[in-house]
Amino acid sequence: MSLKGKHLLCTQDWSRQELERVLELAEDMKRERWTDKYAHVLDRRTFFMFFYNPSVRTRQSFECAATELGGHAQFLEPKSMRLKTSQSAGETVEDASKVMSRYACGIGIRILEDKIGAYGQGHELCEEYARWSDVPIVSMAHDKFHPCQGLADMQGLWQHLGRDRLEGKKLLQVWGHGALARSWCSVQESMLICSRFGMDITLAHPEGYDLDPEVLAQVEKNCAENGRELEISNDPVRCYDGAHVVYSRNWMHPDTYEDGEFHKAEEIERALAHPEWICDEKKMKRTDDALFTHPMPIDRGHEVSDAVASGRRSIIYDVAENRLHVQKAIMALTMGDVR
Ligand code: CP
Repeated sequence: MSLKGKHLLCTQDWSRQELERVLELAEDMKRERWTDKYAHVLDRRTFFMFFYNPSVRTRQSFECAATELGGHAQFLEPKSMRLKTSQSAGETVEDASKVMSRYACGIGIRILEDKIGAYGQGHELCEEYARWSDVPIVSMAHDKFHPCQGLADMQGLWQHLGRDRLEGKKLLQVWGHGALARSWCSVQESMLICSRFGMDITLAHPEGYDLDPEVLAQVEKNCAENGRELEISNDPVRCYDGAHVVYSRNWMHPDTYEDGEFHKAEEIERALAHPEWICDEKKMKRTDDALFTHPMPIDRGHEVSDAVASGRRSIIYDVAENRLHVQKAIMALTMGDVR
């Protein structure tokens, strides 16, 4: 199997076999981190990280990943480039993408939340870069999907539940109130990849906080192909019953984008009116001793209590570490000569 040159905008675009190859390699890269086995995979090559929005984990882990593979990661922001926008003349995506791919071995893009005016625009931009680029485009989180996070989540489940023990386990993907008006990318990616790997999915949120219906239809299809189910609940307590993995995360109401603008203040006010939507120890007692996971950064005291986030079953730091391993694997397979 060769993944050389392949873009990664969503794990759903890759076969299960291809995703398993990434995860197997990530596991080996974790074991071999300080040996020379993968130390020259991207020898003298540069990965461009093009960030419209801020990041802690994604930037740091991609920089470390490139270093550990013998290459380099360069940080880019749109403000340091002269790109065409709806308000100003400048370079087209076609030109930018073609030129950038003459320099770099791959290009990562992050665009979401306040850097777009409507859901879907970030995905369109990533697709436009992919259309013109001669090197792989990797989503570093955009409004729809966060494939690197989804793979890191899955590596965490392999580590803590067992690769062959995910079938039929219940993932609770539950909304948490908070003051950050988060995009849908991490939760949609999590449900897609977990349903591919045979888990039952329960999606729970207050009425109105619906996610992308096309993504939900795909999750339902993935579940059906594995003989599993997608359940949708508006009950902030009973949704925990029997869960094996709890992933509590804030996401924005669909009305947050209106008239081409991102209405963050209104969304925060709307979200904070639902304080009962917090993952706490009492609710976790209803689960089957579930793992707690979250892509971070965590809004502690809103999305989840400190006791759960820092508790015995929390795997948040392992998952954050996995970002490094899966991204090294993605880079080695799509930009290097590893098969
Ligand atoms: N999980 C994640 O993507 O974290 P950052 O926003 O800090 O990169």
